[in-house]
Amino acid sequence: MTGMRIGFLGAGRIGSFHAAVLAGHDGVDEVLIGDADGARAAGLAERIGARAAGSVDEVFTAGVDAVVIATATASHAELITRAARAGLPAYCEKPIALDLAGTLAALREVEAAGTMLQMGFQRRFDAGYLAAREALRSGRLGRVHTIRAVTSDAAPPPPEFLPHSGGLIRDCLVHDFDVVRWLTGREVTEVFATGAAGGAAFFRAAGDVDTAAALLTLDDGTLVTATATRYNGAGYDVRLELAGERDQLVVGLDDRTPFTSAEPGGPGAPRRPWTGFLERFDAAYRAELAAFVDAVRGVRPNPCSGREALHALLVAEACERSRLERRPVALAELTAGV
Ligand SMILES: NC(=O)c1ccc[n+]([C@@H]2O[C@H](COP(=O)([O-])OP(=O)(O)OC[C@H]3O[C@@H](n4cnc5c(N)ncnc54)[C@H](O)[C@@H]3O)[C@@H](O)[C@H]2O)c1
Repeated sequence: MTGMRIGFLGAGRIGSFHAAVLAGHDGVDEVLIGDADGARAAGLAERIGARAAGSVDEVFTAGVDAVVIATATASHAELITRAARAGLPAYCEKPIALDLAGTLAALREVEAAGTMLQMGFQRRFDAGYLAAREALRSGRLGRVHTIRAVTSDAAPPPPEFLPHSGGLIRDCLVHDFDVVRWLTGREVTEVFATGAAGGAAFFRAAGDVDTAAALLTLDDGTLVTATATRYNGAGYDVRLELAGERDQLVVGLDDRTPFTSAEPGGPGAPRRPWTGFLERFDAAYRAELAAFVDAVRGVRPNPCSGREALHALLVAEACERSRLERRPVALAELTAGV
């Protein structure tokens, strides 16, 4: 197949980036953009030299070769289902749905249709995470007993984002949960999580937290801590530390990591700290979209299936349950029947 036509849904923060990347991809002839807000779709299409669809429906009936879904999380399951029923391969931003039932229903549609669904966990394409996976699997670090994952946004998203986001754990920590499984090849067996909402009142109003911490136990006994916050004024900080018997390795530690050493003579604050996900993961997003184009063409396998995303969501669901019920939660509580 040459000259692919892609139907693109969602002209918001991440959609604007993804659509521009696809519009500039050699293997893509046309990007047809739809959004619930038609003016937003039209504005994006004009900015990046794409075509705006008259409606979301038109994206599914225009004869495109594949669909990319970058809309608000609450709409993913329905749009994944529409793509499956239209027989179209789809890429969808994480997560599949806001809850387990919605996720499973969408996956059943994809599996019944036999279509491809690639989920947007871009850290799997980041150079640092790839190198860490290789180091861990090569045995160079020795037995890795502790993993520390960090996801800190520099500033909170707009209040209107929260009610459709699934909350901090499903929205942010789900990336850490996915990458820990992908990196180690191990499953999470138990979680214990908590959260706090000391920042803006709109987090409490949405029943969400602005800061969260989770302790995960993997099936080989490895301990993982994962923390997330919406308030890291020093900058955008996404890191992962692997601590092994022989060596330690850190993902996301470079001259833009927003840290200041407390030690006399230690490194000061970076001159240009990372500001957000679009900048930090620019190359990873481009690589995952290129992988999608290749997967649609059939020249590369799907790098992140819906089932993989389901596993990350299950960990997030267990953490939400743990946070709300203030107790450790075994994954087995959620996996029965999945
Ligand atoms: N992988 C990542 O690093 C990453 C980063 C940011 C956001 N995301 C995900 O991307 C998604 C979008 O996030 P965002 O920050 O761009 O949100 P956003 O609010 O900026 O944009 C969402 C867009 O979707 C549109 N929309 C909502 N429902 C729709 C529907 N049913 N049909 C068509 N259009 C619809 C809205 O009008 C809006 O233009 C979320 O699911 C989020 O979890 C992923």
